[in-house]
Amino acid sequence: MKIDTFTLFPEAFSWFQSQRHVQNAVGAGLELGYVNYRDTTTLSGNVVDDTPFGGGAGMVLRVDVVEWALRARYGSDPADPPSERRVIALTPGGRFLDDALVDELAAEPALTLLCGRYEGFDERILEHFCTDRVSIGRYVLAGGELAAMVLADAVIRKLPGSLGHHESALEESYSAALEGAPEYPHYTRPAEYRGWSVPDVLLSGHHARISEWRRQESRRRGQNDPLS
Ligand code: ADE
Repeated sequence: MKIDTFTLFPEAFSWFQSQRHVQNAVGAGLELGYVNYRDTTTLSGNVVDDTPFGGGAGMVLRVDVVEWALRARYGSDPADPPSERRVIALTPGGRFLDDALVDELAAEPALTLLCGRYEGFDERILEHFCTDRVSIGRYVLAGGELAAMVLADAVIRKLPGSLGHHESALEESYSAALEGAPEYPHYTRPAEYRGWSVPDVLLSGHHARISEWRRQESRRRGQNDPLS
């Protein structure tokens, strides 16, 4: 898989990129690229944004600036994106990111993530250059970078070779293996701490009973989940 992120702050991704699961995925073939809108703008003073028509607060990322950056990277008209690439704008008004969308994106050969800043994107960017708009929640961030990292992190953990144990991405919160419910509780040593003990079944060594207990706990948590 290839993931290209378009941003005004590529340096913001250096910590993200150094994470072990990301490095593992890179070792297994993931290609990560970063493009700074500022590098291809031909506007004087390297400008990338402008005030909104009709007035209002803030600045809007310009459609021509985004076109220049996409053309420079892919050598084609961004209004005609190839079918094998999902071009995703991170925006609070987009489709909510959840495990099903993460699975869908993890199966794609190539993702392009567009980060906005300021008031956001000129609408023509979303309409003509993007296949998707994705939101990570009902709140507004100062820019799309954190949202892009959230999306990329969730997708990359699903790629083969990213996590140490393949199973760890299969039976986890909101996965199909847990029928979309949150994950069951985990415990580790010490088995007894300040009088707080670990459920006996987990110490029993009885795998079928442990599995059954975990399914029950996961379902119980799902019933208390306000979003389910
Ligand atoms: N950009 C700003 N806020 C955002 C959000 N909640 N989700 C995705 N992108 C964003």
